[in-house]
Amino acid sequence: MKGERGRELLSVRDLTTVFGRGDSAVVAVDGISLSVRAGRIAALVGESGSGKSAAALSVMGLIDPPGRVEAGEIFLNGRDLRRRPLREWNACRGRDMAMIFQDPMNALNPVLPIGRQLIETIRRHRRVSGAEARAIAIAQLERAELHGGDRLLRKYAFELSGGMCQRIMIALALVSGAKLLIADEPTTALDVGVQAQILRELDRVRREEDVGILLITHDLGVVAELADEVYVMRSGRIVEHGEVFDVFDRPRHEYTRELLDSRL
Ligand SMILES: Nc1ncnc2c1ncn2[C@@H]1O[C@H](COP(=O)(O)OP(=O)(O)OP(=O)(O)O)[C@@H](O)[C@H]1O
Ligand SMILES: [Mg+2]
Repeated sequence: MKGERGRELLSVRDLTTVFGRGDSAVVAVDGISLSVRAGRIAALVGESGSGKSAAALSVMGLIDPPGRVEAGEIFLNGRDLRRRPLREWNACRGRDMAMIFQDPMNALNPVLPIGRQLIETIRRHRRVSGAEARAIAIAQLERAELHGGDRLLRKYAFELSGGMCQRIMIALALVSGAKLLIADEPTTALDVGVQAQILRELDRVRREEDVGILLITHDLGVVAELADEVYVMRSGRIVEHGEVFDVFDRPRHEYTRELLDSRL
């Protein structure tokens, strides 16, 4: 879809997510606000345990009880998911927003050929025939320069490299037309050479498909290269936010300076 660039896909306001109860409660996300726009990559960085994954899973509606989103607003395409029936939030997952994780091999179903997974995902969200879904799947793979058509659709995850699996996960995430992609450390488990392929693919879907990406990473080099803006998270809070260029050039918060220094 063209002409979409810059539209606000996701707007999170004062989001708070808590795990556990009483004395053992952990406030993993402590009142954060952020937004993701079509055709842009917003990076979310911060030390381990700062709440990045918890924030992402909160948006997706994937926090398992007794964990819970306790407060805040999550606007997806202008609708506050927390004020809608749960089934509506669930329906958005896959159709309007999707998430990819660190370990692509385990994210794919090991006992189903990848074609089945793609086709089932498409048909869950769109009223199309099996043949049409197959054509959509192949077209999405082709756009990602994953050639091989039917032969590729018949493959299982174990027959493919980690990099290939992650590229297929990206295709699977977007095949139903989702415009918001949350990528949680998508290259961390992969070899350096393969990382570049994945980053190129994220850049491509941003540019060519106007997908908006929330990219969680600990790699500030990746942020500098790929992201438009960056949110720095610490102990459940966003401590700094701005265009990547500005934040890296003139970090305002001491913690951001430490993060940038520790990279060297
Ligand atoms: N399912 C859970 N149950 C209880 N506590 C949790 C759960 N998931 C996360 N936490 C806690 O919430 C806090 C934030 O964790 P989170 O996984 O979001 O950090 P992160 O920033 O993604 O770290 P990393 O960079 O290591 O992936 C941590 O204190 C963590 O121990
Ligand atoms: Mg995490």
